[in-house]
Amino acid sequence: MSTKKSTYILAIESSCDDTSVAVLHNDKVLSNVVANQEIHSKYGGVVPELASRAHQQNIVPVVHQALAKANIDKNELHAIAFTKGPGLMGSLLVGTSFAKSMAMALGLPLISVNHMQAHILAHFIDSKNQSKPPFPFLCLTISGGHTQIVKVTNYFSMEIIGETLDDAVGEAFDKSAKILGLSYPGGPLIDKYAQLGNPTAFEFTHPKTKNKLDFSFSGLKTGILRFIQKNIKESRDFGTDFIKENLNDICASIQYTIVSILMNKLKEASKQTGIKHIAIAGGVSANSGIRNALMNAEKQVGWKTYIPEFEYTTDNAAMIGIVGYYKFLDKQFEDLSVTASARMKIKLRKHQK
Ligand code: KG4
Ligand code: ZN
Repeated sequence: MSTKKSTYILAIESSCDDTSVAVLHNDKVLSNVVANQEIHSKYGGVVPELASRAHQQNIVPVVHQALAKANIDKNELHAIAFTKGPGLMGSLLVGTSFAKSMAMALGLPLISVNHMQAHILAHFIDSKNQSKPPFPFLCLTISGGHTQIVKVTNYFSMEIIGETLDDAVGEAFDKSAKILGLSYPGGPLIDKYAQLGNPTAFEFTHPKTKNKLDFSFSGLKTGILRFIQKNIKESRDFGTDFIKENLNDICASIQYTIVSILMNKLKEASKQTGIKHIAIAGGVSANSGIRNALMNAEKQVGWKTYIPEFEYTTDNAAMIGIVGYYKFLDKQFEDLSVTASARMKIKLRKHQK
């Protein structure tokens, strides 16, 4: 791979409820514009039809803003990268169609990107504050749709060695938040209240899985629901509001339980593979609990840990652009028959169990 050529890539991300467009110069981000869709919060989750419609409204202005912020004319671009999947079909189709039209109109190569691979490769965006992980490293990929431990051997070779059997960790945060009456997405709110509470105030059981590297969060969610219902009922008898009076402690205890589950699995994965370079990726890697636990593990278990910059943790197009850049160098282009793929697997090989 030659990295000498100067390459400008425009990248589009529209897999869920954020419309994002970025412009990269090689591995440097010149702009990374994200339009969030507020509309979903009152429904307690993403409504696919509304997401797709909002992407259609947002995409043209967001592309214009990204180009203007990068101070780049569209004729200076070398390629268009877009999220092919996984994600919501209606949302993915907006970005995919727009990317194809733009590539065709400008006569540029088209590059398809897997969203989960992009979360991982966000670590390779040029940054003053963060160092890039050396290969091989382990990446704990934690988002609203996925929970995986991935062994990353190079930019394009990744192997899932553990994953969730039911809910993703982001869902565990969001569903717990919903039980507590918090708005969607509840993960960041649990994090906020957790920082004011006692993490050992309440105890929740850790779910068991057959394979030591797999995760399961649906039992935890049910456990939290039962615990809350029971305590609400009891406190009502005394004329008190259990959630209101204990919100910080409940959030701190939920977060502590989830972070302990994640850390135990990571320690097991490190033990099994002998790899001590550990990264996190995906929306939940914004969580202060997991960030602190990883930093402590540097001292306690001798890991070197890699935590992405905050703006590249939740969904964004800069991470699509960095994969686009490496695929551009490797000449991995698509023709115009390419389409979105809601259930796209990374070119990842599932670990044989
Ligand atoms: O990667 P992402 O932006 O979208 C998906 O691809 O799913 O992840 C979104 C998820 C949501 O479940 C959200 O609640 C969670 O990330 N999240 C957090 C935090 N920030 C975002 N969960 C816990 N603590 C946070 N600080
Ligand atoms: Zn994501």
